[in-house]
Amino acid sequence: MADDFFGDQVAERYDTSQDDMFANEAIEPAIDVLAELAGDGAALELGIGTGRLALPLSRRGVPVHGIDLSSAMLARLAAKPGAEQIGVTLGDFAHTRVPGSFQLGYLVFNTIMNLTSQDEQVACFGNVAAHLDVGGCFVIEVMVPDLQRLPPGETVRPFTVAATKLGFDEYDLVTQRLVSHHYRWDGDRLESSSIPFRYVWPAELDLMARIAGMTLLHRWNDWHRNPFTSDSRQHVSVWQKAR
Ligand SMILES: C[S@@+](CC[C@H](N)C(=O)[O-])C[C@H]1O[C@@H](n2cnc3c(N)ncnc32)[C@H](O)[C@@H]1O
Repeated sequence: MADDFFGDQVAERYDTSQDDMFANEAIEPAIDVLAELAGDGAALELGIGTGRLALPLSRRGVPVHGIDLSSAMLARLAAKPGAEQIGVTLGDFAHTRVPGSFQLGYLVFNTIMNLTSQDEQVACFGNVAAHLDVGGCFVIEVMVPDLQRLPPGETVRPFTVAATKLGFDEYDLVTQRLVSHHYRWDGDRLESSSIPFRYVWPAELDLMARIAGMTLLHRWNDWHRNPFTSDSRQHVSVWQKAR
């Protein structure tokens, strides 16, 4: 099983540590896209976490099932109103199978990068395809690797610089590994964590989808469906399982 970087401490702070991702303006457009793609079918969220998107999607009437390997994150979800409508399975979303079939699979907030090898990312696409109905869709929201902004010879890019919080991404161009280093001052106590990721290119994801029998249907800059361009720092991509 993959390592769990979302233990009790992280889970406890998760819903308040990233206010912008929990704002209505971030959630509503995502739910619009996901509900439309789910149609009359069910949705499978990989890395469901504390239910940031699963709960509002379920409230829209879409049956949602989630997979997550963090029991601490799932416990937070279970404590929320509406959680009883959502099925959850503890496991690694690259391999864990759940009963039922789905019109939609989705994996948001850079979480495909939590799988730290190409093999695991390929396996994840295969696992999603195995759950999808024919014609069903898989959605990923993920950053575009920031290499354009990495000066030649450098390996580290800051992503947060604030009085009580610092964050740096450390890139390894050979392995496509990226380690996010987080430092946070809590009063006079310094907390730090370093989380490993594998960054992945849009075209590489398209190939993973093709291996799993899916083809690209949409690639947007964001959940508002703005066009993906050479300036895009992230993308929302939708692949469809071949009819
Ligand atoms: C950044 S959080 C996103 C949670 C939620 N999807 C959201 O949008 O708020 C990533 C979640 O994915 C889970 N996760 C990471 N790697 C996983 C894996 N290989 N299998 C299952 N869950 C995983 C973590 O435990 C965590 O709950």
